[in-house]
Amino acid sequence: MSGNLPVIQTDNLSKIYHKNRTETVAALKGLNLTVQQGEIFGYLGPNGAGKTTTIRLLLDLIRPTGGKAMLFGENAHDNSIELHKRIGFLPAELNLWKNLSGSQVVNYIGKVRGGVDTHYLQTLTSRLQLDLNIRIRSYSTGNKRKLGLVLAMMNKPDLLILDEPTSGLDPLMQQTFNELMLDVQKEGRTVFLSSHMLGEVQTICDRVGILRGGELKAVETVSNLTHANFRWVTVRVREGVEAKQLSNLTGVSDVSAVDGGFKLRLSGDFDPLLRVLSPYYVQDIEVAEPTLEEMFLSFYGNNGQTQKERVS
Ligand SMILES: Nc1ncnc2c1ncn2[C@@H]1O[C@H](COP(=O)(O)OP(=O)(O)O)[C@@H](O)[C@H]1O
Ligand SMILES: [Mg+2]
Repeated sequence: MSGNLPVIQTDNLSKIYHKNRTETVAALKGLNLTVQQGEIFGYLGPNGAGKTTTIRLLLDLIRPTGGKAMLFGENAHDNSIELHKRIGFLPAELNLWKNLSGSQVVNYIGKVRGGVDTHYLQTLTSRLQLDLNIRIRSYSTGNKRKLGLVLAMMNKPDLLILDEPTSGLDPLMQQTFNELMLDVQKEGRTVFLSSHMLGEVQTICDRVGILRGGELKAVETVSNLTHANFRWVTVRVREGVEAKQLSNLTGVSDVSAVDGGFKLRLSGDFDPLLRVLSPYYVQDIEVAEPTLEEMFLSFYGNNGQTQKERVS
């Protein structure tokens, strides 16, 4: 057993890709990250931030340009064969043998790994509502992703590394996915998953790291990050509301006129806004989640100013 050693620890982990003879891309810059046993860690960042690069480095699929990655206290490169027995991996894009059925792939990979707990396998497929008696070529994108998840999970690995597992999952399956991850955590196993949407992973993650341009900008508990949370609200009213009635409200800022109404930034409760709107005929209210970038800026970017100060 690895005792209290972190499950994942990186030390200045860096990757520079060579695009061609002259151009390089610094995809990951000096990553220092620690993930403890039993955590569900969300690795967040927009497209191109370096998430997949990090995951490929952890799995020793590519070599670092600098620094190192340790898994269960061992160098990811030196001990990759032994380490991989303890890891389940879902790649962002899954390439499987198209002519085989789901169960053939499961059996084959199960044999390579020295056997599979058929009871657990059945639990997984029924909870994900995945039919294994279909050829891979006939699976929808969503079903391929589910199959990939089954393959990653079926050996009950100590560490799950999942590259954008929730992208494109329908809400019902998202819920099932969440439950599966929480079960993994209950067993003391660890999950490292990447996403470009905080909203998709915030209910299950203990902590999230935010990556941008190859740099880790923040590591926060989800409750800290979402405490700084806000939403974009667009209200359409038939007549009469003045911008300044809204901009003076608690939690409201960045009021701008849009076609037939206003768009504003709301943090905290809806009540003050609804009270001001109640005498008017409200045609529509639209609520949008902030982007990861906006959420990050609201947490770190306002230099201690309050929302009100920034409006005026
Ligand atoms: N094999 C590669 N060769 C050159 N550049 C790459 C390669 N793979 C990724 N990149 C670049 O590295 C950066 C990080 O990519 P990636 O790790 O895939 O980001 P993410 O998974 O967060 O979308 C991007 O600018 C991407 O274009
Ligand atoms: Mg990626």
